Amino acid sequence: MTNIVSPSILSADFANLERDIKLVEKAGAQWLHIDVMDGHFVPNITIGVPVVASIRKITNLCLDVHLMIENPEKYIEPFAKAGADILTFHYEAAKDITGLIKLIKSYNVKAGMSIKPKTPADVVIPYLNDLDLVLVMTVEPGFGGQKFMKDCAEKIPVIKENAPEGLIIQVDGGINAETAGICTSFGANSLVAGNYIYKSDDITLAVKSLF
Ligand code: DX5
Ligand code: ZN
Repeated sequence: MTNIVSPSILSADFANLERDIKLVEKAGAQWLHIDVMDGHFVPNITIGVPVVASIRKITNLCLDVHLMIENPEKYIEPFAKAGADILTFHYEAAKDITGLIKLIKSYNVKAGMSIKPKTPADVVIPYLNDLDLVLVMTVEPGFGGQKFMKDCAEKIPVIKENAPEGLIIQVDGGINAETAGICTSFGANSLVAGNYIYKSDDITLAVKSLF
């Protein structure tokens, strides 16, 4: 089965964002991964609502928005209205997980929940029937270009064993053709990659190597 490839624009050239989005679109990527960071939940600040709204105007790719922010409940409506197709919040930042999932779905947006490297896999199990996606971070969130942590990927089988059919299991952090293979063998079917795609000499080939 083909994997869902979600290139992370964090590693793209922000001054040439449209060009860089079109490159991965042409290469066949199905999703576009947008990393939202608030300088509180993670020590970095990146993209906000207006940028997502602008991206929505220039692509039909599925906008896979990864919220690395405190108080995610405050920002669901603005990101949904900006055109996000998937909103993934962090378990560690959520106060009312069931309420947050319901809120996301009320905008007809798919709901994802992510866990940081030190968070055990079993915390997601009670929510698997309500979620559309679980994102297993394979680096500490905050920056692109970090080294893949295999022990994080070892959480995937625990999620997979308990997952209803159709749940998307995504990995993010240090993904390349080799580490993607490890993750898919564990049961992941959606691969986020930033540096591997955007810092490669042949972006098309890099995208295709992940399917
Ligand atoms: C990191 C972000 C990632 C990042 C991945 O906190 O969530 O999406 O862009 O970058 P690479 O693939 O370079 O590790
Ligand atoms: Zn991400």
